[in-house]
Amino acid sequence: MKAPPSVRIVVKSARAEDVAAIVALLQDAGLPHEGIGTHLNEFLVARVGEEVVGAVGLEVHGTAALLRSLVVAPELRGKGLGEGLTGTIVARAASLGVQQLYLLTTTAAHFFARRGFTAIARGNVPAGIAGTEEFKSLCPASAVCMQRLVKP
Ligand SMILES: CC(C)(COP(=O)(O)OP(=O)(O)OC[C@H]1O[C@@H](n2cnc3c(N)ncnc32)[C@H](O)[C@@H]1OP(=O)(O)O)[C@@H](O)C(=O)NCCC(=O)NCCS
Repeated sequence: MKAPPSVRIVVKSARAEDVAAIVALLQDAGLPHEGIGTHLNEFLVARVGEEVVGAVGLEVHGTAALLRSLVVAPELRGKGLGEGLTGTIVARAASLGVQQLYLLTTTAAHFFARRGFTAIARGNVPAGIAGTEEFKSLCPASAVCMQRLVKP
């Protein structure tokens, strides 16, 4: 993490009552929010008190997983929270036996490139990842597809 923000932020597993707040953050950021309820067990949220100020999730398919829905509330961006959420979800992926992470992004390729992800052709992802809704229908063809090993 970079310089800590001046407010106390806690990263925890998401709860059912967090879904509406996660959806609101994703909608504000113009990101897909479909399917969060289905994958909630693999979502993390960042909270200030009871307020959800960030989120990130996984969709696990064998030893591969889609990293999705990374978002930080606009007023808290640039303070290291995105990096903290990314590091925590990578550690969660490792604990689940995931070996490769994949993602699609239209907005944050630079952010992920600095965190170990490299761009790959969209056609080079495993079938389980290609079958996710993000790949099939939610993300535009122009989105950058990226990959990293969980343990480089
Ligand atoms: C992408 C996103 C999650 C990053 O979250 P964040 O909390 O701003 O990320 P961080 O603060 O950890 O890092 C962001 C950048 O700000 C820089 N930064 C950190 N602290 C800073 C500070 N005090 N002042 C200025 N910049 C700072 C970091 O160095 C980093 O730059 P880098 O990527 O060149 O290394 C956030 O911008 C966001 O929610 N965007 C909209 C949704 C989105 O695009 N999500 C990705 C979907 S795939």
